[in-house]
Amino acid sequence: MNAKMGMDEFNRKIKRVLISEEEIAEAVKKAGKQIDELYDGNPILLVSILKGAFVFMADVCRAVTVPCEIGFMCAKSYYNGTVSAGAVKITMDLDQDISKYHVVIIEDIIDTGRTLNDVVNLLKARNPLSLEVITLLDKPSRRVVDFKADVSLFTIPDYFVIGYGLDCGEHYRNLPYIAEYGE
Ligand code: IMP
Ligand code: MG
Repeated sequence: MNAKMGMDEFNRKIKRVLISEEEIAEAVKKAGKQIDELYDGNPILLVSILKGAFVFMADVCRAVTVPCEIGFMCAKSYYNGTVSAGAVKITMDLDQDISKYHVVIIEDIIDTGRTLNDVVNLLKARNPLSLEVITLLDKPSRRVVDFKADVSLFTIPDYFVIGYGLDCGEHYRNLPYIAEYGE
């Protein structure tokens, strides 16, 4: 296969745009305002889970006008079928002592809910002043564990989506919109 054909195939798998750059920008602005109003004057720590949420985090933190700090975690959950095989494995942890902060988790997508459920339980055990979860996307039809975000910007059907930080095989994270991925 020559390089040109490879590129055509790569682009063909971007099936259709589900959420445009403009729609995302508007929703992010609203989320920033919500954070401003909710935590006005209090010490907040925005925590995102790598890698998927890095673009959303970059935009949300710039939509917030009250003082805030940012932190990153890398988490992996291990399961035997649908049964949790143990606690979430943190491959990169926060360097802040979160007991001094109102923590706001900035997540890209909630699918089965397993990862976030584990991360939330783990962070709660560290006694933050409070803990909220904001997710860009929610696929409620795919839920395996009962988990609900405090704020969800877009609810989507059971599509595999790419772009705006979300990947398929580590590609497409740099698309500025959310698209459905398809063969
Ligand atoms: P959960 O533990 O099943 O909720 O997994 C959530 C994680 O799976 C997200 O943080 C994403 O990294 C990944 N994920 C779930 N659905 C999609 C999708 O449609 N596109 C890309 N990544 C996804
Ligand atoms: Mg993720």
